[in-house]
Amino acid sequence: MKDKRFKRILVTGATGFLGHHILPRLRETFEAEFVCVSSKDYDLLKPGTPEKMIRDVQPDCVVHLAAKSGGIVDNRNRPAQYYYDNIVFCTHVMHEAWRGGAKKFLALMGGCSYPGTATSPIDEDQMWNGLPQVDSLGYSIAKKMLLIQSWAYRKQYGFNAVTLIPGNLYGEWDNFNLEQAHVIPAMIRKYIEAKEAGRKEMTAFGTGRPTRDFVYAGDVAATIPWFLANYDSSDPVNISAGRRISIRELADTVKKVTGFPGEIVWDTTKPDGQIDKIFDVRRLHSLGLSCDTTLEAGLKRTAEWFVAARARGEARL
Ligand SMILES: NC(=O)c1ccc[n+]([C@@H]2O[C@H](COP(=O)([O-])OP(=O)(O)OC[C@H]3O[C@@H](n4cnc5c(N)ncnc54)[C@H](OP(=O)(O)O)[C@@H]3O)[C@@H](O)[C@H]2O)c1
Repeated sequence: MKDKRFKRILVTGATGFLGHHILPRLRETFEAEFVCVSSKDYDLLKPGTPEKMIRDVQPDCVVHLAAKSGGIVDNRNRPAQYYYDNIVFCTHVMHEAWRGGAKKFLALMGGCSYPGTATSPIDEDQMWNGLPQVDSLGYSIAKKMLLIQSWAYRKQYGFNAVTLIPGNLYGEWDNFNLEQAHVIPAMIRKYIEAKEAGRKEMTAFGTGRPTRDFVYAGDVAATIPWFLANYDSSDPVNISAGRRISIRELADTVKKVTGFPGEIVWDTTKPDGQIDKIFDVRRLHSLGLSCDTTLEAGLKRTAEWFVAARARGEARL
């Protein structure tokens, strides 16, 4: 029996990476009408459009995924745009969802909103201990305001707004454009193209020793229906695997799943960056949830999807 608590669920950013993972999970859980929109339906940066969208759709639940996200270089070059777009998306969509009488609002922010000096494993209570890394400050601060807006609207209006914090995501439908891509899609694409070009070696930057916490997008998506149905708090929750993966282990696993037969050469003259960034997932686990797909299984699915989607002309390149 499907859950009938919502009549109409509006999903913004439905055509994006996470939208592709989250929508099937919502559809299998809730018996509701789904209205899934992207910028082609409603350009949320246009004044008055969030209000029009909510008036047209009249949702009782809003899953807000629309965002302007990008790689580190683009974030560094265009902090104003990342700040403006994201603060506008979040502020107006949540405000109009409240004004329009929605019962539930759920949005996602990123782990990059934690302070640059946060100590791993990073628990949710470290959020306000300092400024995020300067490289993505515009984006990170704009997304962080979701927490304040959620708290303020809950306190003053009793509005049920929830903000969750996925870790470093990867999976099918990710962005494989090398100027915008995060480390995993960039690595998968480069290794596949190197194999196809018959290259004998690939250079990787640094020592490979830094560790990160990668989470398969399908695992994050699987938790979202639970949060919509059961979580009524403005306290954020990290949604990640909580596992330390070294960049060297990541590169070796990408090499394995892509079938790149050459050598990986580590250019240790290049800097390593932050040595350790892992999320504390005790709060997630205390809710009975976890992200368990192994790195190898998740990478294999992602690499296979990339090859097939590229052939169909569907991969974001
Ligand atoms: N990807 C990550 O690693 C990551 C990590 C943590 C949190 N998050 C958060 O998760 C959410 C989803 O991220 P994602 O990776 O799925 O993003 P994405 O792939 O970049 O998708 C962005 C979505 O937003 C829509 N959008 C962009 N500009 C718009 C506009 N002006 N008006 C209306 N819609 C617009 C896009 O529509 P079009 O297709 O029409 O452009 C697309 O559907 C975001 O809130 C993001 O901050 C992502």
